[in-house]
Amino acid sequence: MASLRAVLFGLVLTATYLPGDGGIHGQLLKNNGFQGDNPGLAAYKAVGDTSLSQDTSNPLSSAITSSLKVSAPSNATGSVGFANTGYAGVPVLATQYTNSFWMKGKYSGTVTLRLVGTSSGNVYASHDITVASTDSKFTYYNTSFTSQASPDGNNEWQLLFDGSKVAGSSLNFALVQLFPPTFRSRPNGLRNDVASFVEALKPSFLRFPGGNNLYDSLAHGDKRIGPVQDRPGRQGDWSYPNTDALGLDEYFYWCEDMAMEPVLAVWAGLSLNGGGIVSGSALDPYVDDILNELEYVLGDQSTAGGRLRANNGRVDPWPVKYVEVGNEDNLSGGCSSYALRFTQIYDAIHATYPDLTIIASTTEASCLPSSLPEGVVTDMHHYLEPDQFVASFNEWDNWPRTHPILVGEYASTNNNDGSQVYWSYVQGSCSEAVYMIGMERNSDIVKMASFAPLMEHFDLAEWSPDLMGLDSSPESITGSTSYYVQKMFSTNRGSTILPVESSEGFGPLYWVASASDSAYFVKLANYGESTQTVTINVDGTTSGTLQMLSGPAEASNRPHAMSVTTQTTSVSGDGTYTVTMPAWAVAVLAVS
Ligand code: AHR
Repeated sequence: MASLRAVLFGLVLTATYLPGDGGIHGQLLKNNGFQGDNPGLAAYKAVGDTSLSQDTSNPLSSAITSSLKVSAPSNATGSVGFANTGYAGVPVLATQYTNSFWMKGKYSGTVTLRLVGTSSGNVYASHDITVASTDSKFTYYNTSFTSQASPDGNNEWQLLFDGSKVAGSSLNFALVQLFPPTFRSRPNGLRNDVASFVEALKPSFLRFPGGNNLYDSLAHGDKRIGPVQDRPGRQGDWSYPNTDALGLDEYFYWCEDMAMEPVLAVWAGLSLNGGGIVSGSALDPYVDDILNELEYVLGDQSTAGGRLRANNGRVDPWPVKYVEVGNEDNLSGGCSSYALRFTQIYDAIHATYPDLTIIASTTEASCLPSSLPEGVVTDMHHYLEPDQFVASFNEWDNWPRTHPILVGEYASTNNNDGSQVYWSYVQGSCSEAVYMIGMERNSDIVKMASFAPLMEHFDLAEWSPDLMGLDSSPESITGSTSYYVQKMFSTNRGSTILPVESSEGFGPLYWVASASDSAYFVKLANYGESTQTVTINVDGTTSGTLQMLSGPAEASNRPHAMSVTTQTTSVSGDGTYTVTMPAWAVAVLAVS
């Protein structure tokens, strides 16, 4: 077997609590725009003698249709205001924060911004700014300050003012925003610490948005772009609002900053949660929206879309080559109409952008057009038990070579008895490695693969296991055992898959070999309870490294309780290496 270009391991930000807002996106305060379905005063608290209400009569903009009304009683004195408790707490680190808010109502004087321990009352940062607010319009304030570190995540951000100046009256605040340092210092950017942990995976591509949290632009107005005060956000397909501060351009900057290929997913008419199917002529306006979106992304300055993008700060078109039509349209009642919906969208895109590679959201022939246009990629999703992944090792060996494959979501989510896994554990991650070896052996057809979901907030997750997680406490960013397997496989990628002569058949040991211009890689997985000793010959090589992840079958990582990571040792020899694979182990030998 020799095929050009090994499978590209990438990312998908499927939306299960909370990969974007409260996850990789840098903004730390929750419910800052009262977006989504009936958020009420979630995450807000009065500080001192004030009362809070959601005020729809004082909208910030046509998109941010509520503000926070902070009322002070007629006998108010001292420092009063409100707090925001973030996404299950505010991460308070020894670092610099940028902080902004909009304010309306008569007030001249000092406003104090603080980061405070919610239970302890410890003040980690306190920063005064002088404001001159009027009741005729909202005024924007933006500042930065340095904080000390909190020992835990039980923190809140506070905005305080002189109660005596507002006694018997009220002030309105809107779109409060708090950012720690952002990745590549981008405004409205990603959390630097979280994004750096993701970047260490050296991902090749990012599919966005969703999973199934696709953006249905007509129903919501195409408002993921431009200033955040013009983005209305939306209730996502999961049970929480999306602010869309991590919007279309932000996803593309993320791709650019990590050298990832963007895979842009567009809504194809399938709504979850009883929303039904939009098809036929009813889908036409949504198809127009897709074309508008593509003009925004790809258009030059002669197009309205391209000019709008430039107006939003990005002159050069975004380098999109892949567009996925829908997500899992084989499920949720979508199969019978997908062939027509896919064709309608494919034809429209292909007529204007013939060079784009279009991805169908399923591999199931019964859901696809009977003759799928040449070059269309099909997307397979697998959430399986460990033994099922191992049984799928050869899934691609005899797959028809007619259409390339994206394995757009996969993870070992259940134990072998079918029970739900809380977080990835060694045996499950080892089974994923076996499956990945099967994909890599078939790199002529399996072109891209992404574990899913990418990340969760430990205190808020709706879906586990995820590749990585975090909470609001310091040093909480944690890689699952699967994170380390993905990292090993992704960072040791050849460009050509090589034939391997072996004295044994596959199981419990599995392997694949590849070569780059400068090194040979042998990936191994031992999906079994006994040690396997392997002698590997790679002619012409003398030294390199052996990376290995192993542990008890059930061992798992948790924040502040990491038990399994990759160990790296040096190897040398005259082209022959003896590798001892303990039970439940994944390894990569990289030699030159
Ligand atoms: O990855 C979690 C969810 O699983 C995705 O949103 C969806 O595509 C799949 O059903």
